[in-house]
Amino acid sequence: MKISEYAKHLLLSESIEDKLLPPSTTWEEEGDLLPLRIEKPIRSKQLQFSDKKSKIPRLEHLNQISARGLTLHHFANHELMAIELFAWALLAFPDVSRSIRMGFLKTIAEEQTHLRMYLERMHSFGIGFGDIPVNYLFWKQTYRMTTVERFSAILSLTFEGANLDYSQIYAQAFLYHGDVETAEIMIRIFEDEVKHVKRGVQILKKSIPTEQTDWEQYRSLIEYPFTPRRAKGYFYFGETRRMSGLSEHFVNGLDSYRDEYTDRINLNGLGQIKIKDRILRKTDLQNPNLYLQML
Ligand SMILES: [Fe+2]
Ligand SMILES: [Fe+2]
Repeated sequence: MKISEYAKHLLLSESIEDKLLPPSTTWEEEGDLLPLRIEKPIRSKQLQFSDKKSKIPRLEHLNQISARGLTLHHFANHELMAIELFAWALLAFPDVSRSIRMGFLKTIAEEQTHLRMYLERMHSFGIGFGDIPVNYLFWKQTYRMTTVERFSAILSLTFEGANLDYSQIYAQAFLYHGDVETAEIMIRIFEDEVKHVKRGVQILKKSIPTEQTDWEQYRSLIEYPFTPRRAKGYFYFGETRRMSGLSEHFVNGLDSYRDEYTDRINLNGLGQIKIKDRILRKTDLQNPNLYLQML
């Protein structure tokens, strides 16, 4: 199979099982390719893009099994969009280096693992994929992804970057409610997402003009109203951006970034949960007292 055929398979096959087909380790020669920008993916009826608002449950409600399932449904949707959009990028930017293409394929394989983990766990909570409408948050931005650098700035540095915060926030929230198993899934995914952001950073760094910082370059690749606010969670773990290879300019720039939406975030949904400025790592999974320590 050629990489472009595989990418089309992920985008144009209807079933989830097809979208979960892992990438091959060997690929046929591609030949000359023209950029192909697929407008939207083919999906089953239950997973069509929806404009209906389905709110993510509040953290304080994660003591309820159904709220856990619905939360993971949101995350599963993000993983599905990530799989599709890395496939989309393979077709939209056929001229990028082999190492970037291989990086995208590795990311796809990991997003597929994430999606499987979420699906399994949410099924155990009684929620099936497509039980609630799915938004198309990431797909809405493809018109801005005119170059591979802009693609990376939006998908990797912004959405996957924000996920570094959210995976930590939710790991803590699930632990708070005693759900160690789901917290572990969040931490496993966090570790992979650090690698994904790193791949985005590599693409960004190659494009930085001399005397400019990674933060300035990132800012130049995205435009209002798509702002850096979307690159962080309502609790910001700056250290995770350092882990991904971003500079202090970026870490601090993002920390202090504000726009007119910043103060509209409602933190009341946290209830009693106090998010701690401590990053949970894979090594913490070996510690049976993890849950108790986090309380
Ligand atoms: Fe992921
Ligand atoms: Fe990712």
